[in-house]
Amino acid sequence: MPETLLKTEFPTLKLHARGKVRDIYEIGDDLLLIATDRISAFDHVLATGIPDKGKILTKISLFWFELLKDVVPNHVITADIDQYPASLQPYRAHLRHRSMLVQRAEMFPVECVVRGYLAGSAWKEYQASGSVCGVALLPGLAESEKLPEPLFTPATKSADGEHDVNISMEEMGRRIGPENAVLLRDLSMTIYDRASRHARKQGLILADTKFEFGRTAHGVLLADEVLTPDSSRYWLEREFHPGGPQISFDKQFVRDYLIESRWNKQAPAPELPPEVVARTQEKYLEAFHRITGRTSLH
Ligand SMILES: Nc1ncnc2c1ncn2[C@@H]1O[C@H](COP(=O)(O)OP(=O)(O)O)[C@@H](O)[C@H]1O
Ligand SMILES: [Mg+2]
Repeated sequence: MPETLLKTEFPTLKLHARGKVRDIYEIGDDLLLIATDRISAFDHVLATGIPDKGKILTKISLFWFELLKDVVPNHVITADIDQYPASLQPYRAHLRHRSMLVQRAEMFPVECVVRGYLAGSAWKEYQASGSVCGVALLPGLAESEKLPEPLFTPATKSADGEHDVNISMEEMGRRIGPENAVLLRDLSMTIYDRASRHARKQGLILADTKFEFGRTAHGVLLADEVLTPDSSRYWLEREFHPGGPQISFDKQFVRDYLIESRWNKQAPAPELPPEVVARTQEKYLEAFHRITGRTSLH
């Protein structure tokens, strides 16, 4: 019976941060990332969770870190709770399958976005200016169309911390140094190429995705979550119809419900009915099966 974990409270550990989905604790010099079952839509965390979503996202990230480890080193120390330090053992039941111990890195303050298809904010920018992040594109492209070449479209968090703002390569260079900008761009493009070819074999289009990198004394690492449905736009190949917005692989039922319920998109966000939760969980599980080729979460 899957259970839903919405929030962790570990009184003997030092809380580092709570994100929309993950709770993060400081473990000595390292970090413990715990993916809860929280789900967000329209920039709000909803009142209802999706059972096992945090486990699914954790397993998907771990799968990609492993597949990509010869391309780029990553921040994972271990996700095996038997290897966790003694201070974490009291919380084993909550940590199992949904956590990873990672090297704490100094994060580059740039979201490294790669887009193979024209969707979301890139489509908006293209309609307004004919270009995306300072890169001029051919005229006449349709919404969701495959781009001639994947595009690197870095972004930063805006001052309000809510929305990302697209920036040019030049601006990225000013923020983190031109050499780092080129390194992160090249890594991001290589990872996208590798990952989108894998996804395609499984009937999934990886429309776009976001990476976060950090550095330690030993060099640059791929950090955060990677290539999960929360950080990426996956589409089912058999449902792909360019010329308009695509069905969201994982969140469509949630979005449809929220629109139907006429929620004004202000807090508090509403509860989701059980059938929306169940159908959404099925989509997350399908993403897990397709990406990892595995049938069991455990
Ligand atoms: N290895 C790491 N070292 C330091 N910070 C990290 C590392 N991996 C991820 N982070 C940071 O942890 C945070 C994760 O937050 P997250 O749960 O994604 O919430 P949100 O996306 O809502 O801010 C992000 O700020 C990310 O940059
Ligand atoms: Mg995040």
